[in-house]
Amino acid sequence: MSDFDIRRLGGRIGAEITGVDLSAELSEPVFRDIHAAFLQYKVLFFRDQDITDAEQVSFAGRFGPLTDTHPLMRTLDGAPQVIPVDGEEQRADHWHTDISFTPVPSLGTTLRAVVLPPYGGDTLVANAAAGYRDLPRELRAVADQLWAVHTNRAEQPRLGTARGEEVRRAFMATERRAAHPVVRVHPESGEPSLFLGGFAQRLLGMELRESRPILDVLQSYVRRPENTARWTWRPGDVLIFDNRSTQHYAVNDYDDHKRVLHRVSITGDVPVGLDGRTSYALEEDA
Ligand SMILES: [Fe+2]
Repeated sequence: MSDFDIRRLGGRIGAEITGVDLSAELSEPVFRDIHAAFLQYKVLFFRDQDITDAEQVSFAGRFGPLTDTHPLMRTLDGAPQVIPVDGEEQRADHWHTDISFTPVPSLGTTLRAVVLPPYGGDTLVANAAAGYRDLPRELRAVADQLWAVHTNRAEQPRLGTARGEEVRRAFMATERRAAHPVVRVHPESGEPSLFLGGFAQRLLGMELRESRPILDVLQSYVRRPENTARWTWRPGDVLIFDNRSTQHYAVNDYDDHKRVLHRVSITGDVPVGLDGRTSYALEEDA
């Protein structure tokens, strides 16, 4: 065991790692233990890191190949792997799994505090595997059969500013759609989880109005307070969540204050359902 400490945030999800310096190259044994904690706790938080973009990129890169340029979001000039998450451009105050409107959603995402508001702007992360486990057996049997259509046009919160509208329009300009199993099996742990969130628009084979109440019921199990971790950002903070078995939500309660995080995402694989069938891209509606 390496000499860092793990402080769990709750019984279901989340841990703070202390005694690790992310500005330095992590040794293989330390990384192995951090990776095991990442799979177990699904979101890891690191305080007092104060790292650069390059160091964030190199930390994230330990988990797998990085996503070069987000399909729909602006990236930093000269650093296409770094997405500035800027509250003046958009605020992700909805539960979602990153880029689930593509057939290859991220493996995980790292976020780093760059500019923080004087209050508010917490990040919530929910354990979607616990959400699945919490389903009554009868409901689980229903969820096991379902597939959902995810699209970037499903639900995108409005900021109510000109800049916000511009970014929102760009995000939704070209439709990206994918069909995913509602219950996804984690490629590393084998754990099943509810794979839904804000981009899940409707269920395959059902109309929107038929899908909505079913999606809402299933989602309610994921976002139970017991299944979530809430992180209040401090300067120097870094987090990484497992995008394959979580959803996250950026709390929009910091008024007109500035909040900028830098996001670096790791490329995932094609989700697999309980029966082994895999997700696929959908053509745009004619
Ligand atoms: Fe996100």
